[in-house]
Amino acid sequence: MPEYFVVRGTVEHGDERGRELGFPTANLALGDQAGSVGDGVWAGWVGREDGSRVPAAISVGRRPTYYGADGYRLLEAHLLDFTADLYGETLVVWLGSHLRDQQAYASAEDLITALKNDIAAASQWTAEHPAAALPAPGETPLGEVRRVSG
Ligand SMILES: Cc1cc2nc3c(=O)[nH]c(=O)nc-3n(C[C@H](O)[C@H](O)[C@H](O)COP(=O)(O)O)c2cc1C
Repeated sequence: MPEYFVVRGTVEHGDERGRELGFPTANLALGDQAGSVGDGVWAGWVGREDGSRVPAAISVGRRPTYYGADGYRLLEAHLLDFTADLYGETLVVWLGSHLRDQQAYASAEDLITALKNDIAAASQWTAEHPAAALPAPGETPLGEVRRVSG
C-alpha cells in the first residue's frame, strides 16, 4: 500500500518570487513547525475545491536559498501545466514521493535548473500514480500533516 503525507491548507500570498522565477507556487502555512514530515521536495497531487486534482512538484521547508535557516516552514506547490489563481482556495495536498532534500542554491539559475528536474520527476511519478488511486484525505485540520495509506 503506498503511503502519503496529506496536508490541507488555504492558499496564502507568497513573496511573488515564484512568478519571477517562472514557477508560481500555491503557498500553504504549516501549523507544525517542527514537522512530522521532513523538509524536502516531493512529487504529489493537489486537490481543488471543485474536486479536480492536479499533479504537482511540492516543496516543504524554509527556502534556504533566500532565508538561510531562519525562514518559517511552509508548503509550496507548483501545479503542473496550470495557470489559474488559487489565492484563498483551500487545497488538499498529497505528498507521494520524496525527490530530494531542500538546498541552498548559489543563484536563482541553479534553483531554476533544480526546479525543472523536480517538475520532470513529478510529471513522471504522477503519470505512474494516477489521482484515481489516491487515498481519502480524511478530516485533516488546516496546516496539520497526516500520514495516510491507500
Ligand atoms: C518543486 C520546488 C522545489 C523547491 N526547492 C527549493 C530548494 O531546494 N531550496 C530553496 O531555497 N527553495 C526551494 N523552493 C522554493 C522556492 O525558493 C520558492 O518557491 C520561491 O522562492 C518563490 O517563493 P514565493 O512563492 O514565496 O514567491 C522550491 C520550490 C518548489 C516548487
